[in-house]
Amino acid sequence: MSDDFGNSAVPVIAIDGPSGAGKGTVGRRLAKSLGFAFLDSGALYRLSALAAMHHGISLDDEESISTLAAHLDVQFRSNPENGDALILLEGEDVTRAIRTEECGLAASKVAVFSSVRQALLERQWAFRESPGLVADGRDMASVVFPDAPLKVFLTATAEERAQRRYNQLMEKGETVKIEEILGDIITRDEQDQQRAVAPLRTLPDAVVIDTTTMTIDQIIDELTMLCRDRLGLTI
Ligand code: C5P
Repeated sequence: MSDDFGNSAVPVIAIDGPSGAGKGTVGRRLAKSLGFAFLDSGALYRLSALAAMHHGISLDDEESISTLAAHLDVQFRSNPENGDALILLEGEDVTRAIRTEECGLAASKVAVFSSVRQALLERQWAFRESPGLVADGRDMASVVFPDAPLKVFLTATAEERAQRRYNQLMEKGETVKIEEILGDIITRDEQDQQRAVAPLRTLPDAVVIDTTTMTIDQIIDELTMLCRDRLGLTI
């Protein structure tokens, strides 16, 4: 049943790219329209970082963080009130707490450790269940699901990604400065691209989509076409 990269009989659509490229939004929508499961792998790195902060563990302490990551007490549920995703860490609702810029940067710090990445592998493979999986991250195509029949790299300029994040935060009523968001995005890009283990990169067999001037609907249309052409899916 289960082999090297989870259940290899189950198709995976691997979506990688830098933060703010639209992977989460389009990945979730695509998974829903295909009836596939969705893996938000970034949430696992965010949860590991948050758990470390909650337990007073330094973000430099690779050994303790990898132990935490291996035993993360996390539940992915849907909110009974509105059907939205609900994430519980050690029983506490952290759905919003893991989405802060601070937690994103902390996630990016702990994500450089190979033992932390190793500890999260099995958890990611467990999401590969019939009829299929849409997996969002940085190393979905290169490390976690290298046998994925469809690999997509979504990108956009750092300025556009900062603008999108700014709009999202303003909608939530948060007061933020766009220059600070742009600075965080550039720092996170550098950390993710320059790390030694599983750096963010484009693979030769990935389809690169620059979403800078595209709407979410246009990205979904393009991905739907790829699913039809490459995977023979009828959607
Ligand atoms: O995707 P998201 O922005 O939530 O990810 C947070 C951080 O987790 C990223 O900046 C990256 O450092 C790390 N990450 C990773 N590998 C993944 C997903 C996320 O290293 N597959």
